Amino acid sequence: MRELLLVLDEGTTSTRAMLFAPSGECLGSNAAELTQHYPGPGLVEHDAAEIWSRTFACAQAMVAKAGGPGAIAAIGITNQRETIVFWDKKTGEPLAPAIVWQDRRSAALCRQWREAGEEPGVQARTGLLLDPYFSGTKIAWAMANWPQLREAGDRLAIGTVESWLVWKLTGGLHITDATNASRTLLMGLGSGGWSDGLLDMFSAPRDALPEIVDCAGRFGTTKLFGGEIPICGLAGDQQAATIGQACFAKGETKATYGTGAFVLTNAGTTPPASKHRLLATVLWQLGSRRTYAIEGSVFVAGSLIQWLRDSIGLIETASETEALARSVPDNGGVYLVPALSGLGAPWWEPDARASLSGLSFSSTRAHIVRAALEAMALQSHDLKTAFAADGADWARLRVDGGMVANDWMAQDLADMLGIPVDRPAFAETTALGAAMLAGVGCGLFRDLEAAAQMRGPGTTFEPQLDVDARKARIEGWNAAVERVVR
Ligand code: G3P
Repeated sequence: MRELLLVLDEGTTSTRAMLFAPSGECLGSNAAELTQHYPGPGLVEHDAAEIWSRTFACAQAMVAKAGGPGAIAAIGITNQRETIVFWDKKTGEPLAPAIVWQDRRSAALCRQWREAGEEPGVQARTGLLLDPYFSGTKIAWAMANWPQLREAGDRLAIGTVESWLVWKLTGGLHITDATNASRTLLMGLGSGGWSDGLLDMFSAPRDALPEIVDCAGRFGTTKLFGGEIPICGLAGDQQAATIGQACFAKGETKATYGTGAFVLTNAGTTPPASKHRLLATVLWQLGSRRTYAIEGSVFVAGSLIQWLRDSIGLIETASETEALARSVPDNGGVYLVPALSGLGAPWWEPDARASLSGLSFSSTRAHIVRAALEAMALQSHDLKTAFAADGADWARLRVDGGMVANDWMAQDLADMLGIPVDRPAFAETTALGAAMLAGVGCGLFRDLEAAAQMRGPGTTFEPQLDVDARKARIEGWNAAVERVVR
C-alpha cells in the first residue's frame, strides 16, 4: 500500500533523503556531504550537478529501503533557501555555479541600491532587505558577469534549489513554492506573484523563472525510480522546520541552529512589516492562501563550530564542545562575534568581520569554545530584542537543528533568553515538516493540524541563570558587537 513519505532535505553542507511512516516514525535516512567551493573571500558556490546527483543517489537508497516506488505515497522537498541555480532548459545541465545564500559577491550592488534610496520600497514590497543574502541580488550579479546566461536566451532557466530538483525529477517541470519565492526579492509578499518592477531591478528574465505554487498539492510525478511517485510537498527548510515544530498559531516561534540560525515567528495571514531590521516572509501557502512569518536570520551557527574544527583545529569533534564549555565556570571575559560571512539580522552588515576579544594569559581553549557556544544564545538574544520591538516577543522557543543536541547550549539559550526552551526528541524537524506537507498534498492528512500527529515528545529547559550574571554577559557581548559593526 502507498503510505510512506519520502523527504529530500537538501541543506547547505549535506543532502539527505528520509523515509517516514504516517505515524512520524523515521524508517531510514541516507545523507551525502556537498562540496563547498570558496573561490575567494566572501564567495561560496555549489555545483548544481553534484547537488542533483547526490540527492538522487540518497533518494534511490530510500526508495530501495521502502521496497520500491509503489510503497511511497509522495515526495516532499525542502531546501537551503536563496541559493540560486542557472541551467539550460534544453540540456537540463547547469550553465554556471550555484551561488550560495552565504555568498557576498553582490555586496557592492546592494550598497549602490541602498545609497540610491531603494531599500524602503523593496522592503515594503518583498518584506526583505537589500543584502547579498537574497537571490535577486545574486541574479543581478550573475546576469552582469556571466555572459553565457545572456547568450542562453530563452533556454535559460533560473530557480532556487527545490525548483532545480523538481526540474530534474520530472524532466522539465519548472515550479517554485511560495516560501522559496518569497526569499528571492522578486515576489510581491502580498500578491504572491513575480513583480515586474523587481524583475527589472534585478535583471531577472521572467521567462527564465518558475511558476509559483502552493506548498502542498499534486505538482508533478517522477518516473526516475522505476515507477511513478508524485511530488506533493515543497518548502524552504526554515519554513519546513517551523511547520515540523507545529508553530500553527500566531506568535508561536521556532529557532533552528544548523549551518546558520533562523528564528521564525508565525505572524498570521496579513503580511507583517518589521521596523527593526527583521524579515517578513511566507511561512506557507495552501489553497492559494498565505500565512506569514517574521524571521531573524543569523548567518553563522553550526558553521562556527565546523570552522573551529576544520580551519583552526581548536577541536577535533563538534561533540567535544559541550564538555569544554562545562569545564570552565564562565567565559573568562572572552567573546567571539562570529561575523565570518558578515552579520545578518538585526545588523545586516555584509562587510563586518568576526572578532575574538577579551583574551588574557588566563584564557584557555575551553574559554574560546565556550565563547563560541555562548555566541548562539547571545545572537538569539539580539533577535529576541528586535522581535519584541516589533511587537512579536517570544513567550517560549521551540528549538531544533544539530547544535541543540548539546544540552549545555539548550540550557544556555533558556538562561540568556529568560524563557522556556522546548526541544523535540526527534531533531529532524525540517524533514518532518516536509513530510507533513507531502502528506497533506497527497491527501494522507486533511490539513497541517492533522499531519502534526507525526510529531513526537520533547524536553523543556527552564531558565535558571541569575539576573546579574545574565546582564553582565549581555553587556560584554554588546560591547564586542559594537566594535565589529562600527
Ligand atoms: O536561508 C538559508 C537557510 O535556508 C540555510 O539553511 O539548514 O542549510 O542552515 P541550513
